Amino acid sequence: MNTILPINTIYYQDIFDFLRQIPNHYADLAIIDPPYNLGVAEWDTFASEQEFLDFSFSWIDLMIPKLKPHASFYLFNTPTNCALFYHHLRGKAVLQNWITWYKKDGMSASKKRFNHAQETILFYTMHKKNYYFDCESIRIPYQSTQRIAHAKHKGILKNGKRWFPNPNGKLCLDVWEIVSERHKNKVHGKTMKMNHPTPKPREMIERMILASSKEGDLVLDLFSGTGITSKVARELGRNFLGCDKIIED
Ligand SMILES: C[S@@+](CC[C@H](N)C(=O)[O-])C[C@H]1O[C@@H](n2cnc3c(N)ncnc32)[C@H](O)[C@@H]1O
Repeated sequence: MNTILPINTIYYQDIFDFLRQIPNHYADLAIIDPPYNLGVAEWDTFASEQEFLDFSFSWIDLMIPKLKPHASFYLFNTPTNCALFYHHLRGKAVLQNWITWYKKDGMSASKKRFNHAQETILFYTMHKKNYYFDCESIRIPYQSTQRIAHAKHKGILKNGKRWFPNPNGKLCLDVWEIVSERHKNKVHGKTMKMNHPTPKPREMIERMILASSKEGDLVLDLFSGTGITSKVARELGRNFLGCDKIIED
């Protein structure tokens, strides 16, 4: 039997100890930014790919029952690790989107292959159709500003109907062009050491929380790092429960 942890707190403990204290069918949304096995820190270093996958599949299996039957979750990782996570998650949750995060980061400079510029975010729901998704709160700007300015006045004829642009922008796509924190923090083009090596951009977290939760909902912030997910959840009137094994300075 699980005891109820006080909410709106980040717990500094191992993910397995934390998840074991969460009751089943408890959270409305989980935002999960786990290790990627890229060796960026001690916590991101595994002896082998198999050890990384055993770790990842174990916390995934422990996390799934903690979500409500109509909950959603977002899971970050490299595209190749996400392919393996997707395979593991088949039959356990429903993949709604394979989101490509175009980091606009200028990350590597390989001359032997195409350079990496993306991460993957898997957007899952526990139910195939019955889940919350507020597409209106996360509209993005139209790209063709001239055409849209014109359409604002007279509309554009589409399939016999006159279409007017939405003043809040277009529906959000599954390719997210969001500048990485690493790139934002560069000084004269030079990468600066950050307190945490892999913080996620606030606007990305806002998008997930607005789209997939309502005010008063409970957001699980797994592998909290800087705690940005918990912070944004609170600012948007959601509750949170966070977990990370290392306290941020
Ligand atoms: C990719 S970072 C998360 C960054 C965070 N999303 C942010 O924007 O600041 C992964 C985090 O997982 C934590 N972590 C790694 N292994 C863990 C474990 N077994 N239990 C709990 N936290 C762990 C690390 O301390 C690290 O802060």
